[in-house]
Amino acid sequence: MFTANELLQTLNQYIDSIVFDRKPASLYEPIKYSLSMGGKRIRPMLMLLTYQLYKNDPQSILPVASALETYHNYTLLHDDLMDNALLRRGQPTVHKKWNANTAILSGDSMLVFAYKLLAECNVDKLKEVLDLFTITALEIGEGQQYDMDFELRNDVAESEYIEMIRLKTSVLLACSMKIGAILAGAPSEDANNLYRFGELIGLAFQLQDDYLDVYGDSKVFGKAIGGDIASNKKTFMLINALAKANETQRKELEMWIANTNVEDEQKKIEAVTALYNAIGIDVLAQEKINFYFEESKKYLAAVPLSDEIKKELTDYVARMMKRNY
Ligand code: IPE
Ligand code: IPE
Ligand code: MG
Ligand code: MG
Ligand code: MG
Repeated sequence: MFTANELLQTLNQYIDSIVFDRKPASLYEPIKYSLSMGGKRIRPMLMLLTYQLYKNDPQSILPVASALETYHNYTLLHDDLMDNALLRRGQPTVHKKWNANTAILSGDSMLVFAYKLLAECNVDKLKEVLDLFTITALEIGEGQQYDMDFELRNDVAESEYIEMIRLKTSVLLACSMKIGAILAGAPSEDANNLYRFGELIGLAFQLQDDYLDVYGDSKVFGKAIGGDIASNKKTFMLINALAKANETQRKELEMWIANTNVEDEQKKIEAVTALYNAIGIDVLAQEKINFYFEESKKYLAAVPLSDEIKKELTDYVARMMKRNY
């Protein structure tokens, strides 16, 4: 069995070796930029670690693991454009370094490349893997659309937020793990438990991302802080701040939500963060993150393999939950 570090090294080498030698360079340079600027590689790592629960040749699924990472990076190109984000992994986003059209078109080509890599999957499993991946990609589009729609609404319920993040983020982590299980020939009951495990980790993961968007350190997080507040994202934090605020606090929050002047952006971020602190939203968010992380463990526990076999995956996920980037 390989350690997570060994798997990450092998994966990065594989991703670096993928050739994008087609023309024009203006289409492929941003793809290389995106795939070579780091990133935690969580989705392919979850796939490889899950596969390793059952089989000891994870190198055989590197193209499929890289397909998921390529797909993920494609979503980031479009997401940064939609979210008007300037910084990703400590570097300018593609639409800033180049332009919006480049982010759209290079992103589209990355989606196609993801399918190209996926097609290298074991032929006996190809249909099942393709079907799962395709439905997942549709769900992610749905989640991203809800995310956009919610920016314009002030009555988003917490349950709607949770469903939105399940769609935009969780299903890809879940799908990565389930593909790992499918390719390793795991029993379907295991594959489904591992899917649910990934889904719940995904909820904790996106809640954590939203938390770091407010409380993170930009230098470590690699993204600008406060972007979600600036664009009125209906995060768990904003939804609960609105629900738990007293009369004065709610009026102030509503005033800031109504203010979308770019020149007031920094003041808005500071004021809303101060309101979150006063209302105790930071603590509430941490509790919610822990809740989903604890829930997730039940589904890994339901997979009838030894703790010893699960250790590399368990430790990886625990480290992932402690991240600040
Ligand atoms: C960013 O994903 C988008 C979310 C779903 C929060 P990651 O935090 O996995 O980004 P990278 O790939 O490590 O940069
Ligand atoms: C991103 O959510 C989800 C997808 C990319 C599908 P966010 O918009 O919160 O991700 P970041 O914070 O930009 O990485
Ligand atoms: Mg974003
Ligand atoms: Mg977004
Ligand atoms: Mg975010």
